Amino acid sequence: MSKPFKRFRSHRVDEPTREKYRETFLKVDDFIWPVFLVDGKDISREISSIPGVYHYSSDTLVHSLNDLVCNGLKSILLFSVPEEKKIEQAYSENGIIQKSIPIIKKEFPDLEIITDVCICSFTEDGHCHVGDNDKTCEILADIALSHARAGANIVAPSDMMDGRVYYIKKKLIENNYDDTLILSYAAKYASRFYGPFREAANCTPANGDRRTYQMDYCNSTEAMEEIAADISEGADQIMIKPAMCYLDIVAKAKIKFEEPVVAYNVSGEYLMIKESISNSINPPNIILEVLTSIKRAGADRIVTYFVPDIIKGFLW
Ligand code: PBG
Repeated sequence: MSKPFKRFRSHRVDEPTREKYRETFLKVDDFIWPVFLVDGKDISREISSIPGVYHYSSDTLVHSLNDLVCNGLKSILLFSVPEEKKIEQAYSENGIIQKSIPIIKKEFPDLEIITDVCICSFTEDGHCHVGDNDKTCEILADIALSHARAGANIVAPSDMMDGRVYYIKKKLIENNYDDTLILSYAAKYASRFYGPFREAANCTPANGDRRTYQMDYCNSTEAMEEIAADISEGADQIMIKPAMCYLDIVAKAKIKFEEPVVAYNVSGEYLMIKESISNSINPPNIILEVLTSIKRAGADRIVTYFVPDIIKGFLW
């Protein structure tokens, strides 16, 4: 007679059996690779605050993308790191992002290009606004339009000003860029995990911090309100950021909203894992465990600096 309990272990006896019962699978299509672009030629400089991540000029980026796109990479997220801090450069047609998109698209016409829309690398004080909320939104809309004109598929405002999705959508539609999508950083928390990025993007706030615009990490209902507001203003996809300490928010957003949910596995999270890997016996598994947890929580796609590690480490 069979015992009155379920034999779960029979599902785990060997790898083929475990695979049969597996619920979450990572695919190469799940990943978006964040890239830091600088002006110039032949530049490929490792960023000291994020080991394994580079500042690229557009020519060397194309070179690095070759291998990744051949192995299935479908999407990148572009940040620019200008030498000079001038806001006009953020929406100039001669800006780094605006000049680089056609170069990348020429080589990889099917690669999805998402652009970060923010001014923190262009302001003297490193903040994501110019003081006034609505004035900042107007600038953000100009930046988004300039990225759309250059050929961006998706623009991703990461500033956390109120109403910026409304301003951006309106501007895009008025200029007949109805097909340029908006991925809004709808729930972006004021997080210590951004530290390494700020060094890489040269956008550490000169005074104070970002808690007057990014979300308080103690809040979760407010995240749903932020997301609902962005969707009502025209966001096509929504971002939760950071990812690892915010899987509850990812899970709730996935259940509550129809729009695709993207989670950003940010620089500090990357660094934490990278550093632990040097002491670890089985490094790739740690990366896969973390990324799988983000997908299992409900993320449709994941922005992660681990893209080269996972693409080079695995055959899809
Ligand atoms: C800037 C921006 C930041 C990140 C993405 N866009 C930094 C910040 O808000 O301070 C962080 C990304 C990361 O840490 O990997 N608006």
